[in-house]
Amino acid sequence: MPSGLRRGTPSPFRFCSAPFAESDQRSMSEPADQTAAPTRQRVLSGIQPTGRFHWGNYFGAIRQYIELQDAGDAFYFIADLHALTTVRDPDRLRGFVRDAALDLLALGLDPDRATLFVQSDVPEVAELTWLLMTVTPMGLLERCHAYKDKKNRGLPADAGLFTYPVLMAADILAYDADIVPVGEDQVQHIEVCRDLAGTFNHLYGEVFRLPKPRLVEGGAKVPGTDGQKMSKSYENTIEVFEELAPQKKKIMRITTDSRPMEEPKEPAGDHLYELFALLAPPADVAAMADRYRQGGFGYGEVKKALVTAAADYFAEARQRRAELEADPEKTDTILAAGAERARHAAAEVLDRARSACGLSRRHGERRR
Ligand code: TRP
Repeated sequence: MPSGLRRGTPSPFRFCSAPFAESDQRSMSEPADQTAAPTRQRVLSGIQPTGRFHWGNYFGAIRQYIELQDAGDAFYFIADLHALTTVRDPDRLRGFVRDAALDLLALGLDPDRATLFVQSDVPEVAELTWLLMTVTPMGLLERCHAYKDKKNRGLPADAGLFTYPVLMAADILAYDADIVPVGEDQVQHIEVCRDLAGTFNHLYGEVFRLPKPRLVEGGAKVPGTDGQKMSKSYENTIEVFEELAPQKKKIMRITTDSRPMEEPKEPAGDHLYELFALLAPPADVAAMADRYRQGGFGYGEVKKALVTAAADYFAEARQRRAELEADPEKTDTILAAGAERARHAAAEVLDRARSACGLSRRHGERRR
């Protein structure tokens, strides 16, 4: 591989494409509540800690979340309450939460620009979930896909899975979120959230701010080692912070077609090329596309180039992660500060909701 490939590797912390920039600016100039003073829009999303993050998670969502930390007042949390519906091992769950925090910070989530916290550190959300539950029609939840899919497959479902969208609605409403960046599969849940907020507001007055979903782009386009969409359920993932040696082995075992080496190939649609295009500097991607079209090369070469491109792309992040890992208190402090900010915001919304529906002794009375 030409040594030039190492130069000019895009750092994951300097993004050349900002998929949301344009529409953000537009929506930033129109506050959700026209009567409110124009403040920065609150961007909020949750990430489930159900395993180590892979390239699909990173390029499909996490990278965009991190970019958005400058598009508004960003709140990001690690959704451990949601993870409880699938992770039943306490040590594993604790480990996943820790890893998620380290990974996000290493990948560029900046606690000075965004609020990072753990979902369960804000108990207000659990109480708000109950209030919302009382205005949630069963039929609405029966149509939600996580539950429906499980039921259709004849698997037993618990009430946690069934009411998962209500907890998610509480997550969003508790912080007066304006914009919720999510993948396609979560859009339905934002609709549920808007629905519940609307019903509550209709019954009790304007308590909740209605959020808008923001589809993150590119999510479905990260292919796994077998060419299908990269996903834990297909066991075709490459983890972002996997040790380099096993990562190299995985990359070298990526499936390829068996066309003869001499034959020119169209790069678009070739999953090996698509992975390379995500991770390599643009000039190298263009050069690689030419080589595909000319033919006379082997996939082994492409894989080796991909190994190097991946190592270079995440080199800075790996370094940061190692530093964070060596100083666990630093992450603890970041999460504690994040939780405090988040609780402050959630307590205000919860007070509004309690008072509106009659849980405080007198109308308008605040608990604190
Ligand atoms: N359910 C989301 C997912 O699996 C994670 C999540 C939980 C979330 N609460 C949220 C996302 C609130 C956005 C807003 O991806």
